[in-house]
Amino acid sequence: MEFSTQSTSAYHQIKTAALAVGVFADGQMSAAADVIDRASANQVKSVVKQDFHSKVGEILVLRHLPGVRAERVMLVGLGKQADYNIKAFQKAESAFAKQCVALGLTQATTALTTVACPGAEPTLLGRLSGQAASSATYHYDQTMGKPDPKLRPKLKKYAALSERATTRALQTGLDQGAALGQGMALTRTLGNLPGNICTPTYLGNQARALGRQFKSIKVSVLEKKQIEALGMGSFLSVAKGSHEAPRFIVMHYKGKTPAKNKSAGPIVLVGKGITFDTGGISIKPAAAMDEMKYDMCGAATVFGTMHAMATLQWEGELIGLIPSCENMPSGTATKPGDVVKSMSGQTIEVLNTDAEGRLILCDALTYAERFKPSAVIDIATLTGACIVALGTVNSGLFSPDDALADELLTSGKRALDPAWRLPVEDEYQELLKSNFADIANIGNSGPKAGATTAACFLARFAKAYRWAHLDIAGTSWLGGAQKGASGRPVPLLVDYLLRQTP
Ligand code: BES
Ligand code: MN
Ligand code: ZN
Repeated sequence: MEFSTQSTSAYHQIKTAALAVGVFADGQMSAAADVIDRASANQVKSVVKQDFHSKVGEILVLRHLPGVRAERVMLVGLGKQADYNIKAFQKAESAFAKQCVALGLTQATTALTTVACPGAEPTLLGRLSGQAASSATYHYDQTMGKPDPKLRPKLKKYAALSERATTRALQTGLDQGAALGQGMALTRTLGNLPGNICTPTYLGNQARALGRQFKSIKVSVLEKKQIEALGMGSFLSVAKGSHEAPRFIVMHYKGKTPAKNKSAGPIVLVGKGITFDTGGISIKPAAAMDEMKYDMCGAATVFGTMHAMATLQWEGELIGLIPSCENMPSGTATKPGDVVKSMSGQTIEVLNTDAEGRLILCDALTYAERFKPSAVIDIATLTGACIVALGTVNSGLFSPDDALADELLTSGKRALDPAWRLPVEDEYQELLKSNFADIANIGNSGPKAGATTAACFLARFAKAYRWAHLDIAGTSWLGGAQKGASGRPVPLLVDYLLRQTP
């Protein structure tokens, strides 16, 4: 999609298929709505009085208003002016973009970006706007028998209006939003692809494709022999029940880093890449097991974030690590009680083969040490317990490092991709005691603090650097009618990374 900015206050003169103008509750007009109203002999005000409640994201389409050059003016509800914030802005902007897509428009213009929004600088408004428009055009048809081209969104050009002084910042933001939207689309598609297509081998090939697309990304895909040579016995203990070959993917992005930042060390993202989680011998119940194809959404998040940062030619160094395999029950599968040896040398008693995410992540966390990273963030659909604690609104954030945790929480808030901090204190470590190995892979208190015991397990392997863990079991996909991958937490991570460079 192509994003542009335009600075004007003559809103009625704008030639476009659809122009979004904001209206607050109680009929309070935004500047743009006011201009359109006066140009059209008060058509807006009379319609608002009768047929519009100005709920956030409510849309009313007015066609061919007299004195207005836009083919359609879409009144977009912004809610109460006193409550207006970036959440309302994003909801309104998304509703508009979705309406344009539903009408099959190829081009649209938003004036919502000219409405003063407390706490949001123009770059952020631009980013949220670009993200909303780009996300509205996401469409999955990869596995339909005959993909219908008519169902593909046609929206190709999106213009955002601005004050003259902020036009450049708004454009910067739109470009960020466009890159973010593309990254999220990649994350969603990888998440949505079924387990019989999106295998570890497939993810490895996708990584290579990313390396071909961006000169700034170097990729290596390790196969079973190489993974064995590294001593990743914990990772391989999960892979061993499946006929699908495992992959360990390393993606290394290097922007044109200014000399002054060179000593900092890269940021490493580690993504859980279980392409299907049956639970293994500790098999899951049948109901909704299909959703376990999303168990590689951490990996998909790493892909999407890498894609976005490379598109933006970010001035930093970023490494993506993805351990990927299937978790299957079979005659060769790991059994409850088996003891396996991780790359770190620590032995693990596998009390439950369904707690497999931590078993593949721990070896990737050890591998990360070699990069002398400034921070390591792992992203994983790790526990059902995290969904019990936080539902689908917040990702779970775990970190022993208060500064890193605060930065990530702030990014989540700004990007409207929130996370909530949960504990990883040492006091929980005793729940992971084993009589037969250095550590057990599940807590011995049943489901109590299940998201925390998972994080505490990972913490044992993440002592050499600043580390945070994002449990995205509840946030990386949407249930109900909108069933599918959400693209989260790419916005949080992109915001965090963008803030690592001045
Ligand atoms: N992939 C699951 C976690 C999950 C569950 C994600 C539901 C999304 C929705 C993970 O591998 C798992 O099975 N975790 C177990 C851990 C338990 C055995 C300690 C869980 O949460 O039940
Ligand atoms: Mn599992
Ligand atoms: Zn899993």
